[in-house]
Amino acid sequence: HNHIDHATPEKVAAAIAAGDTHAHLPPYQDLSAYAAEGGYTTLLELRRSGDWEKVQDLVLSSGLRGLGGAGFPSGKKWGFVRANSGPRYLAVNGDEGEPGTFKDRYYLERTPHLMLEGMLIAAWAVEAARCYIYMRDEYPAVLEILRREIAALEGAGLVEPGYIELRRGAGAYICGEESAMIESIEGKRGLPRHRPPYVAQVGLFGRPTLVHNVETLHWVARICREGPEILNAVQKNGRCGLRSFSVSGRVTAAGVYLLPAGSTIRDVIAAAGGMAQGHVFKAYQPGGPSSGLLPAHMDDIPLDFDTLQPHGTFIGSAAVVVLSDQDRARDAALNMLRFFESESCGQCTPCRAGCEKAVKLMQADHWDQPLLEELCTVMQDASICGLGQAAPNPIRLVMKHFAGEV
Ligand code: NAI
Ligand code: SF4
Repeated sequence: HNHIDHATPEKVAAAIAAGDTHAHLPPYQDLSAYAAEGGYTTLLELRRSGDWEKVQDLVLSSGLRGLGGAGFPSGKKWGFVRANSGPRYLAVNGDEGEPGTFKDRYYLERTPHLMLEGMLIAAWAVEAARCYIYMRDEYPAVLEILRREIAALEGAGLVEPGYIELRRGAGAYICGEESAMIESIEGKRGLPRHRPPYVAQVGLFGRPTLVHNVETLHWVARICREGPEILNAVQKNGRCGLRSFSVSGRVTAAGVYLLPAGSTIRDVIAAAGGMAQGHVFKAYQPGGPSSGLLPAHMDDIPLDFDTLQPHGTFIGSAAVVVLSDQDRARDAALNMLRFFESESCGQCTPCRAGCEKAVKLMQADHWDQPLLEELCTVMQDASICGLGQAAPNPIRLVMKHFAGEV
């Protein structure tokens, strides 16, 4: 499972400069291998005689929810987009910027055609005039794999040349926010838009747009080929389905682990080979910095959508980072706020000034907790997008669970 060092921009650039156009790519399943095991037969059948509402029912019955982190029922989005007249577009959000999240990369470096077929099925379902894939530039191997495989799809006549457009992100975390991503695809600075209207109504170039995360589409293809049972038959701790946990930190084997959605942090750590030698489990980030930190004793909660809300957090994209007795929660929280300060787009004051202020307050030996709490309220209530609204989570959770450190 451990794939974190697969390809860096430097390694890829060096390999290409040396005339090596293949060896730097991970061994992925190309179009011919995918087609040999039945790939694209579902898409072709649907295009011939499919009923989009039946496919929507299939996706809804599987329980598939948006795996970028928000968990919105995927099939429902198709209905929202279809409710608006065409032309409509589809945009794939591959700007996997949440620190600790690397599951989309994991799948694209192995089975890119699952995402591509899922995308073309969803595009067929909403009659999309064109598909845009917004892929972060920090994934050079993925970009090259997609370039090759999109060309292969065109060559095989599965899509018209130009129907799929690959766009490179330029390293801004905020461009993973769907409306900022759309601004960026349109060639503008990536500033989140106010909602409503949702992108399903007014998205790319003012048209209704279906936005899905990479992994969501990977599952669309699998559900259509293998049936909704691959997700809805998996039950654990009262929860249903599967989650791809990106696990890192003080574990033995960092990597992506596909586990039941009802798994607890103990299950996740066990899947990653247990704690790293010499480290005692102290705390965990359940779903990216926006989810903050939970203490080790809260180890029996199923890490699923909805289950963490009562504890002031959420699972998001399931980016689990494990901390040990050798880490301080306050340092981790400060690091998270520094990240938000650096990545805030600056459009609204509560987030731009709030993150900066929070970093200053958190650098003090003793945190001014009433002032920080007041700041958190303003940021949560008055920020335009999820970045500023969720940035207070690490602060609040550390004040609540690690009071002795602050
Ligand atoms: P959201 O819940 O506001 O929206 C989720 C999706 O549902 C969006 O596509 C939205 O357009 C759609 N939607 C919601 N209500 C709708 C309605 N009434 N009509 C039509 N469409 C509707 O969540 P948001 O802000 O898009 O995402 C937040 C999540 O993103 C967080 O959980 C966070 O963990 C995650 N995230 C993931 C990152 C990654 O790298 N994977 C990076 C940063 C955040
Ligand atoms: Fe930009 Fe932050 Fe406002 Fe979001 S909350 S729009 S990132 S300034």
